[in-house]
Amino acid sequence: MKILITGGAGFIGSHVVRRFVTKHPEHHIYNLDALTYAGNLENIKDIEHAKNYTFLKGDITDAAYIQSVFEKYQFDGVVHLAAESHVDRSITDPMAFVKTNVFGTVNLLNAARDLWKGDYEGKRFYHVSTDEVYGTLGATGLFTEETPYAPNSPYSASKASSDHFVRAYGETYGLPYVLTNCSNNYGPHHFPEKLIPLFIHNIIEEKPLPVYGDGNYTRDWLFVIDHARAIDLVFHEGKNAETYNIGGFNEWKNIDLVKVLCTLMDRKLGRAEGSSAQLITFVKDRPGHDLRYAIDATKINTQLGWQPSVTFEEGLAKTIDWFFDNQEWLANVTSGAYQEYYQKQYVNE
Ligand code: NAD
Ligand code: DAU
Repeated sequence: MKILITGGAGFIGSHVVRRFVTKHPEHHIYNLDALTYAGNLENIKDIEHAKNYTFLKGDITDAAYIQSVFEKYQFDGVVHLAAESHVDRSITDPMAFVKTNVFGTVNLLNAARDLWKGDYEGKRFYHVSTDEVYGTLGATGLFTEETPYAPNSPYSASKASSDHFVRAYGETYGLPYVLTNCSNNYGPHHFPEKLIPLFIHNIIEEKPLPVYGDGNYTRDWLFVIDHARAIDLVFHEGKNAETYNIGGFNEWKNIDLVKVLCTLMDRKLGRAEGSSAQLITFVKDRPGHDLRYAIDATKINTQLGWQPSVTFEEGLAKTIDWFFDNQEWLANVTSGAYQEYYQKQYVNE
């Protein structure tokens, strides 16, 4: 197949591109990415010369350009990850999220529909989404594929909207699709605006660790390579017009996770036990902060046989090691525009 992967220079997309290029020599992979602040070709440097790989620099909000690449390369499949992905940025600039996450997705759907012209044999549009579309949980319960959508942030509202468009194109035009909703990822190449890489970076630099509110918010963490494995499996074996939730049954309150991270970092840095925890600073809460996310991954476990390959302890250790071994990457992405973002976001710190 000729497969278009969008957002393949970003955090999750780079792991998906690497997996498809290396595990599937039978496919040709076209990685289309606008290289926003979150996109970085360094993330996929190891496979840039692979025979079955082509990079396309382009913006999914540009409808004419998207139509032209579909015509030129005649894709059979799409794995769509390109998005604005950070909740805090969506609170300060919602329209950027509408443009990329909603208009960009509809541009891709239109281009696929125009190219495939109702001949859907061997074709597939895979939309990568998030558990945040389900809104927030109370103290108990899990998100299943039947949980009604109730997004609370501009980011999750834009992702929910894109999910609805994908389903609508399936219902209205018969476009073959699969959709997955995954929990919080962590791992190598994670951009240091998100909790885990931001705190690893700040601990190294001995800067305050800005915990929002009282820190009693819960997230369900999955190692990014396990997400990429799930995407590979669902793309090849998932049933048409189905949704699969992806998660590792691995819930952590932010404050508990941060304390574990501090302990592991103290050991790694050879600092006295308890020194990183002294950097914890409670700051102004995120507006509309969802209390708890937790995924019920029974469907993908039982129907497709997927389960995480690493424990949280292993995944976190691999992640910390990666950030230590790649401090140049960290220094590069935290220079320039990042500093400006940081000052604005953590002004009340
Ligand atoms: P990211 O922000 O790290 O990367 C996004 C990538 O998309 C970047 O390479 C960026 O350059 C590219 N991009 C952004 N706007 C674009 C545009 N207009 N045209 C072309 N490319 C553009 O994001 P991520 O964390 O890797 O998330 C990838 C996908 O997975 C997103 O759709 C996100 O909603 C979803 N998701 C993320 C998580 C998570 O924990 N990070 C969990 C579940 C689902
Ligand atoms: O659940 C999946 C989602 O996970 C993805 O769809 C998003 O793209 C991804 O960014 C992530 O969203 P979160 O908002 O959960 O991730 P973030 O790392 O921004 O925050 C995790 C938790 O940590 C959340 O409760 C907010 C809190 N937090 C975050 C930051 C950046 C802090 O307490 N302090 C911080 O500085």
